[in-house]
Amino acid sequence: MTPSDVKATLSFSDGSPEMQLPIYKGSVGPDVIDIRKLYAQTGKFTYDPGFLSTASCASSITYIDGDKGELLYRGYPIEQLAQNCDYMETCYLLLNGELPNVAERAAFTRLVTRHTMVNEQMQFFLRGFRRDAHPMAIMTGLVGALSAFYHDSTDINNPTHREISAIRLIAKMPTLVAMAYKYTTGQPYLYPQNNLSYASNFMRMMFATPCEEYEPNDVLVRAMDRIFILHADHEQNASTSTVRLCGSSGTNPFAAIAAGVACLWGPAHGGANEAALNMLEEVQKMGGVDKIGEFIKQVKDKNSGIKLMGFGHRVYKNYDPRAKLMRETCHEVLDSLGLHDDPLFKLAMTLEKIALEDEYFVSRKLYPNVDFYSGIVQRAIGIPVPLFTAIFALARTVGWIAQLNEMIGDPEYKIGRPRQLFTGATARTVVPIAKRG
Ligand code: CMC
Repeated sequence: MTPSDVKATLSFSDGSPEMQLPIYKGSVGPDVIDIRKLYAQTGKFTYDPGFLSTASCASSITYIDGDKGELLYRGYPIEQLAQNCDYMETCYLLLNGELPNVAERAAFTRLVTRHTMVNEQMQFFLRGFRRDAHPMAIMTGLVGALSAFYHDSTDINNPTHREISAIRLIAKMPTLVAMAYKYTTGQPYLYPQNNLSYASNFMRMMFATPCEEYEPNDVLVRAMDRIFILHADHEQNASTSTVRLCGSSGTNPFAAIAAGVACLWGPAHGGANEAALNMLEEVQKMGGVDKIGEFIKQVKDKNSGIKLMGFGHRVYKNYDPRAKLMRETCHEVLDSLGLHDDPLFKLAMTLEKIALEDEYFVSRKLYPNVDFYSGIVQRAIGIPVPLFTAIFALARTVGWIAQLNEMIGDPEYKIGRPRQLFTGATARTVVPIAKRG
């Protein structure tokens, strides 16, 4: 961290002594005020629920400029990565800091490919779930359970263990997601086929059966790969912060990633793509395009509790650069499948247009986010809606691992332990139950 010449001075109106706080400069983006000694020197905490102004760590992986609509992985703009690289190169970049050359890419892909099978016992573990279990409930369980299968890579403080668990997680996530899907449909699981690319292999495990091969369509495989790239990392969001906090206790990498999966499930985070599609289906049931006006009225009514899912973002207040790329892919996929006239897709496109022009959304800078379009793309590919968030988890696994490894390697890392502003009862005496009124 580079210290700045400028210092912040904290003063108090009650005459308590002032405090000088160091400021550090990042390579780009806002400076941070170092408050680590605040409590020791003043006996006070800071208060920032939702981390609106708090940097929880120093990181060199992903940079977002929400006002500019910029997203960089290790310095490379997401647009260039999406157009010139595949997901395996993106994983290599996030984990190692640099893009691979031809030999490095081949070696990394080979390594990941050779870890795609899961322990045969895993299918018996899956059997304990109800057939109608939500895939994210299954994924939270399966990912956590990996720590019970791979005892040789559970020491988070051992760099070799971290490396092997990283490869295992990236390699096995598609297999697990496809197994979760097959389980809920009652179809047999398919083993991975290692001559296929990462995305094609996943699609084959999803859509082929032992009776019928799946012929991967290049446009759809590329779309899937792009979904993976665009969701691979996103700085210190809720699930990544969860992974860091969970890992900070020294727990094993599989358990820390399972915590990320659980956090991602929520509709305000990764569950938004599923929620967006469910919302479209609801509007369709209400009467489709003709009822959009009525639906938008409900969204604007604060008492209705209805939000336009797939719109808005905590950080991107002008546009989400991933949404722009996903929109492009969305049109390619709809064209390739001849689906532009599908009523649900027509509804989505009309909703997008209305929301982009409506004063309520424009004034609040609420634009479609990546999940609005990725939900549409996944539905067009044939992925069932409840599986969308599991695919997001698959793609984000590499980001979670890169962030976790960065934290463990950081000499300043400590167990995460937020403080609180206590507003409850002060110390009081327990009254024996017979005497309580
Ligand atoms: N529909 C209707 N109104 C909204 C929406 C929405 N989707 N999002 C925000 N608003 C309103 C909100 O009511 C508030 O209005 P007012 O100023 O009148 O009180 C204003 O816009 C500002 O909203 P906010 O709640 O302060 O914004 P936030 O930064 O706390 O929330 C968000 C960001 C993503 C949680 C929220 O926009 C949301 O719930 N969106 C829908 C869910 C969604 O699509 N999430 C996926 C995010 S992208 C994937 C990822 O990175 O995980």
